[in-house]
Amino acid sequence: MHTGSFLSKMFVTGLGLTMAALALVGCSENKAAPSSGGSTASSGSKTKIAFIVKQPEEPWFQLEWKFAGEAAKDLGFDLITIAATDGDQVLPKIENAAAQGAQGLIICTPDVKLGPAIVAKCKERNLKLLTVDDQLVGPDGKFLDVPHVGISAHKIGNTVGQALMEEMKKRGWKPEETAMMVVTYEQLDTARERTDGAIESAEAGGFPKDKIFKAPEKTTDIPGSRDAASVVLTQNQKVKNWLIASMNDTGVMGAVRATESFNIPADRVIAIGINGDSALEDLKKPTPTGLFGSILLQAKRHGYETCKMMYDWITKGQEPPKITYTDGILITRENYIKVLDEQGLPH
Ligand code: GLA
Repeated sequence: MHTGSFLSKMFVTGLGLTMAALALVGCSENKAAPSSGGSTASSGSKTKIAFIVKQPEEPWFQLEWKFAGEAAKDLGFDLITIAATDGDQVLPKIENAAAQGAQGLIICTPDVKLGPAIVAKCKERNLKLLTVDDQLVGPDGKFLDVPHVGISAHKIGNTVGQALMEEMKKRGWKPEETAMMVVTYEQLDTARERTDGAIESAEAGGFPKDKIFKAPEKTTDIPGSRDAASVVLTQNQKVKNWLIASMNDTGVMGAVRATESFNIPADRVIAIGINGDSALEDLKKPTPTGLFGSILLQAKRHGYETCKMMYDWITKGQEPPKITYTDGILITRENYIKVLDEQGLPH
């Protein structure tokens, strides 16, 4: 009841503002009525922001889009969500966003080496550019000078490595019976920094270097990770206990599925992902799997805050910071419901 009256009050106030904005627009321009869902920008035409992601099927990117949608509603701009799943699609999709009237582009590109071409295209079509998650690189492999919002990858990798060590000690596993598998995707900087961080912390915790096996995945999805992990498992059939790390949840989930098909019991596997998205599937299962936990990232900051930055840039000329790093928090079966509730995330 309370909520109802609060909402209708909000609605009335919102409507009042929209009417006032319409009245102002009406004086200066004879434009079609702005579309519903928010107030108009001061110029009279609605701000348009495009948000391109590389893997729309991954829950992480769905969450980013969801929070971007909330920003669009709150701030009153039009959001254009576009998927570009391989390099060939990127430039045509940017062209398409520009043709639809976008003034700004937020992108997590499927290929960071397209950096210079993306920058040139945005310049040509007069689009402001902000990257999220994966940072653009130039021909020399160095990051391009484009505002970026990404995770503090190395530090988050360290957290994974430390948590693996802690859980291994808790279970009393002997180092000589244990190996660590790291599903890697080293051509992507944020991925390599994460897995390097996990390895660094495992070694710092006393884990023997020669018991750490990298499993390079060809594609960053569950089949890609499962295939990569299967090779390492085939070559190391005498290992009793496995620790598993990767760049994200899908990277460890595929590896956990691989341990299952090798009939390795779930209590002999400790896997910790990053994202806090597809790992939830396993955390929710009544019987524990090898998936022990994940580092929950801040999708809201990547989806909502990036849009706010872009909106302020377009409407107020306020340039976003060159770099914004976000962090994460370990979720396990014990705490995930509480943490997701605190973060306002569904579970
Ligand atoms: C990369 C990964 C995603 C997610 C984001 C977080 O883009 O592919 O799964 O981890 O980074 O920034």
